[in-house]
Amino acid sequence: MSLEGEVLRLKDERSAVLLAHNYQRPEVQDLADYVGDSLFLSRKARESDRPVIVFAGVRFMAETAKILNPTRTVLLPDLKAGCGLADSITADQLRAWKTDHPGAVVVAYINTSADVKAEADYCCTSSNAIKVVEQVPAGKEILFLPDMFLGDYVRKRTGRAMHLWVGDCPVHAKLRPEDLERARSEHPGAPVIAHPECGCATQALPHVDRVLSTDGMVRYAEETRVPEVLVATEVGILHRMRKLNPVTQFDPIDAGAICPYMKEISLEDVRDSLRFNQYSIDVPADVADRARLALERMVAA
Ligand code: 13P
Ligand code: SF4
Repeated sequence: MSLEGEVLRLKDERSAVLLAHNYQRPEVQDLADYVGDSLFLSRKARESDRPVIVFAGVRFMAETAKILNPTRTVLLPDLKAGCGLADSITADQLRAWKTDHPGAVVVAYINTSADVKAEADYCCTSSNAIKVVEQVPAGKEILFLPDMFLGDYVRKRTGRAMHLWVGDCPVHAKLRPEDLERARSEHPGAPVIAHPECGCATQALPHVDRVLSTDGMVRYAEETRVPEVLVATEVGILHRMRKLNPVTQFDPIDAGAICPYMKEISLEDVRDSLRFNQYSIDVPADVADRARLALERMVAA
């Protein structure tokens, strides 16, 4: 039997749902039940009635799934699938930051560990960060973490004063305004869509047509009728864009924008996760209980 056939058979046998992030390898995306951004996949995980959730994404996404749907088995097919941005703040660092700002409201991006989420009042993703920050009562001091570029963008869009943690994504921070300028001069007239984690998105905002989450970018790709679009994010997303819209040409700002964590999971890993029940993600109950309200606010926003 082919590898694809084995994955589908095991998925069926175990009544599992396979969730894949937009940056996953094309062959993994193609076999998933749902492909999307971190908010969409969190909602799918939360509402899943299947006993097993295989998360083809990164660890913080699998932890989020476990916290939101604790009675399910959540499998992350490769434990090396971490996140450089999530690693930029620990729970101890956050506790110290909170001590310096008593009474402040903590808004944590989903790209954080479960321990960090347990210290947060609200969680958000790139697609609803503005909405979430707008829910914080006016006049409250806000600590936003860990992505400074997303934080800066949200600060500009909402006009709210926020303290920003100085963290960034190693893949998106590398995309600089100079890269954007070069791509724009090589492809004159092509609109630019950018993920808010990009260094170029906030620093060169006037040259960016749309700042969007990965699903926002996919929807834009599906709807646009222009001949060419410049894309500032991890290149894994191009597979879905090109599949949904074979007419428009989608060019990356930087073809080397590859997230090594997102590429850890192969189709063999997905098959083995179902075959050997690996690697089951558990979040200690006290941590999960403290993180759940912030995550419920995120999925509701
Ligand atoms: P999205 O929620 O937009 O999919 O972003 C997740 C991520 O990790 C981007 O680097
Ligand atoms: Fe983390 Fe950046 Fe990879 Fe997204 S692209 S998973 S933020 S390291």
